Amino acid sequence: MWYTFYFFNFLYCINALTYHSYYGVPVSEEEVAKYKANNKDAICVVTFEPCDENEWRRVDGSCNNLDYPSHGTMNTPELRLLPAYYSEGFGLRKTKSGKEFPLTRSVRLHLLKVGDGIDDKFATSASYFIEFFTADIVAIHDIENYVLINTNCCEPEGLNNPSCAPNFLPVNDNVHRFSGMNCNNMTKPLTFQTEGCVPTNTLPNRITKSTTHMDLSMTYVHANASAIHDHRTNEGGKLKVEVVNGIALPSDAVEGTTCLIKQARETGCTRNVPNTILGTHLFSTWFWRFHNYAADGLAAVNPCWDDDTLFHAAMDINIAYYTRMMMYEFYGEVLGKENLIKEGVLNSHDGFRDVYDKTVLPGVFAEYGYSIRWFHETQDGTQELYDKYHNFMGTTQTVNFSLRVQDLAYDENLRRLTQGVFLQPAGGFGDGTIHPDMADFGLGPLQKTLDILSNDLAKGRYFGLAPYIYYRDLCTNYEKKHETFEDLEYLMDKSQINLLKKVYEDPWDIELMAGIWSERLMEGAWVPPTVYCLIVQQLKRTVVSDRHWYERPNRPHAFTAEQLEQINRGSFAGLLCAVGDDVTHIQPKAFLRIGPGNEKVSCEEIPRIDFNMWKDDKCNLCE
Ligand SMILES: *[C@@H]1O[C@H](CO)[C@@H](O)[C@H](O)[C@H]1NC(C)=O
Ligand SMILES: *[C@@H]1O[C@H](CO)[C@@H](O)[C@H](O)[C@H]1NC(C)=O
Ligand SMILES: *[C@@H]1O[C@H](CO)[C@@H](O)[C@H](O)[C@H]1NC(C)=O
Repeated sequence: MWYTFYFFNFLYCINALTYHSYYGVPVSEEEVAKYKANNKDAICVVTFEPCDENEWRRVDGSCNNLDYPSHGTMNTPELRLLPAYYSEGFGLRKTKSGKEFPLTRSVRLHLLKVGDGIDDKFATSASYFIEFFTADIVAIHDIENYVLINTNCCEPEGLNNPSCAPNFLPVNDNVHRFSGMNCNNMTKPLTFQTEGCVPTNTLPNRITKSTTHMDLSMTYVHANASAIHDHRTNEGGKLKVEVVNGIALPSDAVEGTTCLIKQARETGCTRNVPNTILGTHLFSTWFWRFHNYAADGLAAVNPCWDDDTLFHAAMDINIAYYTRMMMYEFYGEVLGKENLIKEGVLNSHDGFRDVYDKTVLPGVFAEYGYSIRWFHETQDGTQELYDKYHNFMGTTQTVNFSLRVQDLAYDENLRRLTQGVFLQPAGGFGDGTIHPDMADFGLGPLQKTLDILSNDLAKGRYFGLAPYIYYRDLCTNYEKKHETFEDLEYLMDKSQINLLKKVYEDPWDIELMAGIWSERLMEGAWVPPTVYCLIVQQLKRTVVSDRHWYERPNRPHAFTAEQLEQINRGSFAGLLCAVGDDVTHIQPKAFLRIGPGNEKVSCEEIPRIDFNMWKDDKCNLCE
């Protein structure tokens, strides 16, 4: 037994490839040793087995692009749509006249109002889903850093802590002149430079703990290829679940860890298993279960498939279902399906398409993750709860679930939230209001106070994002000029431009998020035009750079036409009917509010995947 163990290790060491995560090229053993000695190897290098062009998608995202196999793994450097803007020595950008920018909270107080908004179109599920799929591809270490690691950023000692980036509140703050608080916690982004992977005199590039592909990183534990083994049951292709009060939740990873349903907050455990904010908890749980639902469905028609085959086929279905749901159902509604077909992001018909281009490297634009933060405006902080007959059972505070995934298992929370998220309207999309909890209680009891939106603006400063007007130039294909405040009138109401003038001396000073907050919604879409533009740039890249994209007829283990048809029947309503607790009736378009043309129906009327389409002839021979 130990002989095979050594033999395996030996092979692994000889064959495994080690690449520099930033430069994307192989690194020498000496260099690896150097990083190891400084405890930097987990970030600066990435190790994976040699690529096999016919294998399934890997959980760690490696070998997606066969020429550049490390691109796509966690710690792949971020891309930028526009060059960065910093002052001398990568300090924060100064205004055109050379001053520091006003406090982010002041800017936010001018540009966005606090109050209850109710959207005409979307249900709260839409706002929660965004949280989830953002965590699939962007860095989520910021919150961990100031809540669990550098906890003193708002204390006097924080002034000497180089990791801190506190956001101070103005003295005349409309809320905090009464509370006595004067600061919001925040930390600086962790970069390849701060982590010692590349020289500090190079352009800061943020590290990301997720793969760059749309591949359910929150479910498939992207950390490294071996971590997933802690989560597998090694039987029937399934993932481990933990049942608490009759509720099946993603299991804690390893015997003895306390990362998930147990007291995660108290232990400060930050494994790459979902314990973040409510939207992520909910969808992580559903897609975790959906993996097992698919594995069971496949096993029933293919009794001869082994654990590994079932695992990979179930993961493939799960990711395809999710991608379909995000691209066609969610983005199709939010950005406009016809628009996305014209942009080449969506397919115009339901069959196969192959737009793969191996010369486009997998990667995520800093501006994508950033512009998605606009959706914080749509988050309602008060979530209604309903029982399975849709009787109103009260409300809860969304932010109170931050780093408290365990609370889902108690007080019927998950059951009642599940009904609530599709029954309740979202906060207003683009109505200029934000919920009071987002403005002052953004992480619930974890912080004394937190204005999520002010911090969004502040992050843009630390990421060194270009002036808003340059993004407008880009988004209009350099055909419109954006030099004066008046040049923005086609995007914004005059009153809003006046507010911008109050905050910024010069149009060049307008920050990306401040501009976005000020825009009217785009015609034919439900986001501001700049958000549309920045999201579309990313989606275009994602569909062409993912070799395992589910609509490709010639990817490894590609779907058959019949299988693809099943995936295309998928919807959020179908997901909840399959794996949601006590869901028996739901509207077919469950990201949208119930209304004419979208009335509640029984789950029996909602299409589900027919796993018979995956029936393998080989198994019939085995029988
Ligand atoms: C993989 O990730 C797990 C969990 O984070 C960690 O314990 C393990 O050391 C990692 N293995 C490698 C080879 O980096
Ligand atoms: C949310 O947490 C705060 C602070 O702990 C608490 O006062 C409040 O009652 C909680 N909200 C709900 C709905 O439980
Ligand atoms: C900053 O974060 C720490 C750690 O979570 C917390 O104890 C402290 O109250 C926070 N400060 C503010 C002003 O919210």
